[in-house]
Amino acid sequence: MIDRLVVFGATGDLSARYLLPGLAALQAGGHLGSGFRLVGADRGLDRGDDQGDDQGGGGSAWFRRWAAEQLERHAADLPADARHAVCAQAEYRRADVTDPADVASAIAGPGPVAVYLALPPALFPSAVTALHRAGLPPGSRIVLEKPFGEDLDSAVELNRLLAAVVPEEAVFRVDHFLAMTTVQNLLGLRLANRVLEPIWNSTHIAEVDIVWDETLALEGRAGYYDGVGALKDMLQNHLLQLLCLVAMEPPVSLDERDLRNRKVDVLRSVRPLTEAEVPRRTRRARYTAGRIGDRAIPSYTGEDGVDPARGTETFAEVELELDSWRWAGTVFRLRSGKALGADRKEVAVHFRHVPHLPFGDDEEATPNLLRFGLDPEDLTLRLTGTGSHTHTLAPLTLSARMDPPELPAYGRLLLDVLTGDPALSIRGDEAEEAWRLLTPVLSAWSQDLVPLQEYPAGSDGPEPHAGAGTP
Ligand code: BG6
Repeated sequence: MIDRLVVFGATGDLSARYLLPGLAALQAGGHLGSGFRLVGADRGLDRGDDQGDDQGGGGSAWFRRWAAEQLERHAADLPADARHAVCAQAEYRRADVTDPADVASAIAGPGPVAVYLALPPALFPSAVTALHRAGLPPGSRIVLEKPFGEDLDSAVELNRLLAAVVPEEAVFRVDHFLAMTTVQNLLGLRLANRVLEPIWNSTHIAEVDIVWDETLALEGRAGYYDGVGALKDMLQNHLLQLLCLVAMEPPVSLDERDLRNRKVDVLRSVRPLTEAEVPRRTRRARYTAGRIGDRAIPSYTGEDGVDPARGTETFAEVELELDSWRWAGTVFRLRSGKALGADRKEVAVHFRHVPHLPFGDDEEATPNLLRFGLDPEDLTLRLTGTGSHTHTLAPLTLSARMDPPELPAYGRLLLDVLTGDPALSIRGDEAEEAWRLLTPVLSAWSQDLVPLQEYPAGSDGPEPHAGAGTP
């Protein structure tokens, strides 16, 4: 297990909300040895020289105080001693991640190191180049967050840069959706139950909706989000990963090679949309001013830091089909939007209607639906049962709440990084395939072949546009 984690961008939102709480959860669960050290690095802007000094003095004291405050704010439910232990040993380095000398000094220390690039994706190529020049100790690992590149070409280039620094098994392109309990349960339920896998195909399943609709709006993230948008922020990575787990062939084992090979097969089987299909099978939109509960939401274009001319979408929907024996004829709909009226975060598997109904009223026999709730994490199966009168039918719903996970998603991901298990991270070819299959959409959207619709914050999203949803 690696016992040194260097986080570049250590005082950003990702670090405050997820990485520090993840580390504190690992500490509370006894997963971190006493030798574990967190090194936080950033450019030390806006804090004055005394606080930003880099060699363990004022800078480290400042960073420990800051980390303790963030843990108080974002992980108050974790034991105080675990939170304290993470901060007590933390060190700070002032470093420009694009400068090889700074990077070398931040990563200096005994043995291999895990380097977390908690940075805007635009910085990845120069940061990885600086790591290359600085020279990582053998056995070190690099962690990046999506989006990995901004299109197919830049993803290929980023992978090339990474491959020059560490072997592929040491690159952790992390996706916190893969560490959610329900997401892992998707595979568990499919493969450990005789009643599901035999009907897990297009003969029985008509449609699958993979949805992440949020009531959250921009939340001050224009600096990142306005250059990315919903398609690249959510569909290209999180939602395609969910598609992989829903649609993959049973892997021989859950080791990284078997699991990731089967995921790549799914991505390769996705039929790329033709230019004529994109306007019918995709939608993009951005929110205008509205209300969500008692919150007044300004229009997206009025948010600080947003450049309206960019035409960034806050809602994206794409309908895909897979060219494979198992799935030819099933429609997979991926959709995510911000500032919507209600949270809807789920994978909903819609089964086909029964072929023949010998009794009851057709109207009462709704097709079966299996719903994996992602937040909160739960499971619902909609069946048709019998009604109180002879030979009548009535809806019947079975539901279950998942046990809370032992570790939050970022705790799980960080543990995998430190122990060196890349099974839940995205392999380079997987990231490239995900870009490849969305390339026709990106290209059509950039040529304005699909209108950028609008929807009021707090609504259900944009109106279906003419012809949407028809093959
Ligand atoms: C992030 C996206 O990866 O996932 C956000 O950048 C999105 O835009 C978020 O809101 C949703 O996941 P979670 O776990 O933060 O609710």
